[in-house]
Amino acid sequence: AAGAVGLALGATGGALVQSAVSDSGTAGAHGGAGALSSLGATRIAFDGDHQAGITNPLQAKGHVIAFDLAPGAGRKEAAALLRRWSQTARRLMAGEAAPTADTGIALDAGPSSLTVTFGFGHSFFDRTGLTDRRPTALDPLPDFSGDRLDAQRSNGDLWVQIGADDGLVAFHALRSLQKDAGEAARVRWQMNGFNRTPGATGAPMTARNLMGQIDGTGNPKPAQPDFDKRIFVPAVGPGPAEHAWMGNGSYAVVRRIRMLLDDWDKQSTAAQEQVIGRTKATGAPLTGGSETTPMDLAAFGADGKPVIPSNAHARISAPEQNGGAAMLRRPFSFHDGIGADGTPDAGLLFICWQADPLRGFVPVQRKLDRGDALSAFIRHESSGLYAVPPGPRAGEYVGQRLLE
Ligand code: HEM
Repeated sequence: AAGAVGLALGATGGALVQSAVSDSGTAGAHGGAGALSSLGATRIAFDGDHQAGITNPLQAKGHVIAFDLAPGAGRKEAAALLRRWSQTARRLMAGEAAPTADTGIALDAGPSSLTVTFGFGHSFFDRTGLTDRRPTALDPLPDFSGDRLDAQRSNGDLWVQIGADDGLVAFHALRSLQKDAGEAARVRWQMNGFNRTPGATGAPMTARNLMGQIDGTGNPKPAQPDFDKRIFVPAVGPGPAEHAWMGNGSYAVVRRIRMLLDDWDKQSTAAQEQVIGRTKATGAPLTGGSETTPMDLAAFGADGKPVIPSNAHARISAPEQNGGAAMLRRPFSFHDGIGADGTPDAGLLFICWQADPLRGFVPVQRKLDRGDALSAFIRHESSGLYAVPPGPRAGEYVGQRLLE
């Protein structure tokens, strides 16, 4: 199960430092108000080959925020901002106070699996005079026929993803980074999301989305030999030297996908299962077995039709149907109240990770756009594509190999 995968991701990704803050020798922002629970004490390393927040288990709370550099701010200001942001993120992820004027919001809680992940959008490179260092993988995504995108809530020069298992810890990080931006950058858009809280189920299991489906089963697993190749840019070559700064980095595609929940909830469970190709209760393929049983895409029923329908979401998006194209989906659900049309403004902050969007999101979304049974129940409302540089070495700031 991908819930277990989630745990495996943390365990094998090398980034999870499961230690109580008090053991780490740091003063800690939790103020020494008593021992932390294991949830509060769980700490994820900021430094490493890859940035945190990609292979770690889904956290209960998330914020994704795009910033635009302020008028007049260029490469120098961007470098100084990434230096400030990295210093703050490194400290908060260790459960320490923010470097300047900590607000106290996260006192008592410990790091709570906080991750902060930074990325650069297409426009960042023009704003900073670094156009010749922009990888072609950041070329704008193609238009899809089902897109209903709001330009104001799409793209942006800089992108920050925050995740934590505590809402106050996540907000604290958001607030600290926003203050660090100072005069250099302004918030372009912000989205807030959530997932199941660790410990809420009897055993770790794959999360459900707001349609009630088990979501994440088919994700690539770190134990697979081609996992790194699919998710991360190779550390050395084959690309041009001016793009070497992205070695060990990854590309994030972010889509705010509204779910038309009133329409969805009117469907019978059987009809909902036909849309995905998996059962709602266990996530098992309609061809049988358990959640982890591979789908039998060649099975036909007595009626002569494929058991997993030809327009089922899980069939169309499967790597074997897309020349091996794969991505690591690591979403948050969102709910922003009731929309102007009187239906829930809720859905999926779809975030997926890949070494190259042209071998991940793009071909799969092209196919889904043409024939996915799920399309009738969702609407893509905003879009972003970001180059997420490698993790920093000790003392380095994120993006230093591009900006120094
Ligand atoms: C699989 C839901 C959008 C790519 C699945 C599954 C569900 C699901 C329930 C089956 C379980 C699993 O393997 O995780 C949704 C919902 C979406 C959405 C509710 C929108 C609100 C997308 C988009 C893409 C995508 C936009 C990429 C362009 C995939 C892939 C799989 C998958 C690659 C795994 C296929 C496999 O390996 O078998 N999705 N999905 N999904 N989805 Fe989506």
